[in-house]
Amino acid sequence: MKNAGIIGIGRYIPEKVVTNVDLEKIVDTTDEWVRSRTGIEERRIAADDIDSSDMAYSAAKEALADANIKPEELDMILVATVTPDHPFPSVACLIQDRLGAKNAVAMDLSAACTGFIYGMITAQQYIQTGTYKNILVVGVEKLSKITDWEDRNTAVLFGDGAGAAVISPVSEGKGILAFELGSDGSGAKHLYQDKHIVMNGREVFKFAVRQMGESAINVIEKAGLTKEEVDYLIPHQANIRIMEASRQRLELPIEKMAVTVNKYGNTSSSSIPIALVEGVESGKIKEDDVVILVGFGGGLTWGAIALRWGK
Ligand code: UT7
Repeated sequence: MKNAGIIGIGRYIPEKVVTNVDLEKIVDTTDEWVRSRTGIEERRIAADDIDSSDMAYSAAKEALADANIKPEELDMILVATVTPDHPFPSVACLIQDRLGAKNAVAMDLSAACTGFIYGMITAQQYIQTGTYKNILVVGVEKLSKITDWEDRNTAVLFGDGAGAAVISPVSEGKGILAFELGSDGSGAKHLYQDKHIVMNGREVFKFAVRQMGESAINVIEKAGLTKEEVDYLIPHQANIRIMEASRQRLELPIEKMAVTVNKYGNTSSSSIPIALVEGVESGKIKEDDVVILVGFGGGLTWGAIALRWGK
């Protein structure tokens, strides 16, 4: 079996910044409430003429350049999103064409905020068996188009963005060391899209605090590692209080946890790959580091990956 790992990463961050103070003018909220309850200070909102496929395309181009492979070398494109441009064709097919990835099978995957982790593990199966060699996994969301801008319970939480990774065979001991995925459809009622996002914040909060810590611990054990060997934790960036609960469960110092929620809000499936790119760029993730990715989301869904960074 071949080890699957990340050989290139990229992201797209919309230019427009919307601060909590800007939102005070739209909904009955305060900067102080949003900061103290969520850790969010501002978020990015994509322009009207930029849809999910545009953001996914930009992140994908960056990831391909970073991986140093040509679009024709891609065997598969998996796009995790709950905000595709259209129900069909998939965002994956749209970017396949724009990239010129004519040899790639393309499809979207729906697992809400856990989508990128589901995508990485789906890719891993094809790589391990030797079926495919290079798989592009993208997490992209334009949540602003399904946000109810009159609902203060949700309007302050979300943002837009995209993150991408190329998954390919890597050397022994590197790449994905262990994973855990889970789903519980009985919790569907707590977080769903009607016309807009509808959420029972307290229920999702309780689930997230419990599940994130548990899944992170489980993959560390499955990988045959200890908490002390973890170099960096990338939790889904939904709420700093939920993230802090996982960090404390792993007994990690604060500098070993990725935090982007303050500047981008919750960008659903793109939050983990965006934080990964920023972790690598800032030098916080180095060759051979043990990185834990852990997420949760609507479905309900959850998942975690233990990864050794490097090719
Ligand atoms: O990717 C997965 C997506 N979802 C999540 O991650 C959400 C998980 N849940 C959370 O992050 C938190 O539950 C929230 C941030 C959504 C809410 O924080 P909380 O500490 O659980 O607050 P709460 O729901 O207990 O609400 C406290 C009060 C309520 O008022 P009453 O009923 O006590 O009078 C809310 O109406 O805060 C009120 N409130 C607000 N006040 C000012 C809710 N939203 C706001 C707001 N500004 N934006």
